[in-house]
Amino acid sequence: MILPVYSAAEDRYTNGMEYARCGRSGIDFPKVILGLWQNFGDTAPLARSRDMLHYAFDHGICSFDLANNYGPSFGSAEETFGRIMAKSFAPYRDELFITSKAGYDMWPGPYGCWGSRKYLFGSLEQSLKRMNLDYVDCFYSHRFDPRTPIEETLQALVDIVRQGKARYAGISNWPTEQYVAGAKYLADRDVPCLVYQGRLNIFDREPITTGLLDATQANGSGFVAFSPLAQGVLTNKYLHGVPADCRATDTKTIQGDRLSAETLARVARLNDIAASRGQSLAQMALSWVLAQQGVTSVIIGSRTVEQLADSIGCLHNLTFTPDELAAIDHA
Ligand SMILES: NC(=O)c1ccc[n+]([C@@H]2O[C@H](COP(=O)([O-])OP(=O)(O)OC[C@H]3O[C@@H](n4cnc5c(N)ncnc54)[C@H](OP(=O)(O)O)[C@@H]3O)[C@@H](O)[C@H]2O)c1
Repeated sequence: MILPVYSAAEDRYTNGMEYARCGRSGIDFPKVILGLWQNFGDTAPLARSRDMLHYAFDHGICSFDLANNYGPSFGSAEETFGRIMAKSFAPYRDELFITSKAGYDMWPGPYGCWGSRKYLFGSLEQSLKRMNLDYVDCFYSHRFDPRTPIEETLQALVDIVRQGKARYAGISNWPTEQYVAGAKYLADRDVPCLVYQGRLNIFDREPITTGLLDATQANGSGFVAFSPLAQGVLTNKYLHGVPADCRATDTKTIQGDRLSAETLARVARLNDIAASRGQSLAQMALSWVLAQQGVTSVIIGSRTVEQLADSIGCLHNLTFTPDELAAIDHA
């Protein structure tokens, strides 16, 4: 039987999602954004991806984060999104804030990664076709390219916005100094850097310790945090061994000491603190990121609708007592 046409929940903006202003701009982001890095490629069942995307939008997540090489395989997360876009989300295009990026390996040869104008334009054209879109809402430089003149990368972002292929420009993973220079270049050309995307979680606080988070606020960019659960380590899923269906077994992105006995002992202590707050550890880890001054939103990467529902629940408790914060730091 062919599934009925999708109709979004009528109460999607009033059933629990919260929104925050993104830097000095006219854009509000949902505090929880859904990212399609690992769980939406052509190795994942389409029905599962579709159910998560529908559930997200039905619960006020109107922003979806993609990049050219999300999958696996490269490009296939954008293809998945494009199928749902055509079949379910097309009537809602103006309600959606869809982002993509280029910067990492995408296709072979000298023009398939980093920060040249040729790569950024070529990649975005491909992304738009895969996603069945005329434009993205924000296009990011995915990483700083030390071998390309900074002006070339930034001017490509400016021209992409001026040509209407993206509504806004963003920067991800650039070092603080280069981000500040980039934000100035973009602002001077009336294409301000809407948002910086960086890794931030209880374990990895680099944007705070390096002053990057302060710099985004000073320059009027929002900050959206990726890998807020340290790819699933900051949940209870590894406390009793490595389960069958998980990122640690599916991919090579959880490596080194990320599942060491020492780390898992810390996770167990954090799990106890979360329980005392009436939250799952995943919820507390997301609440902690959202509680950091200057953070606009978290970008989560759910594998199932159940995980997605659990994660959205972080919004029920976003405040921490000084004792709780100290206990988290200590753990
Ligand atoms: N700009 C960049 O360079 C960059 C880099 C990385 C990510 N990102 C963006 O950020 C998004 C999120 O990154 P991420 O996937 O690393 O985020 P994450 O939220 O830290 O990790 C997601 C993983 O955590 C587990 N999980 C999620 N919710 C859970 C819950 N409620 N309970 C238990 N486990 C849960 C799942 O692991 P299992 O799969 O093991 O079940 C899931 O795959 C990406 O999709 C992408 O959009 C951007």
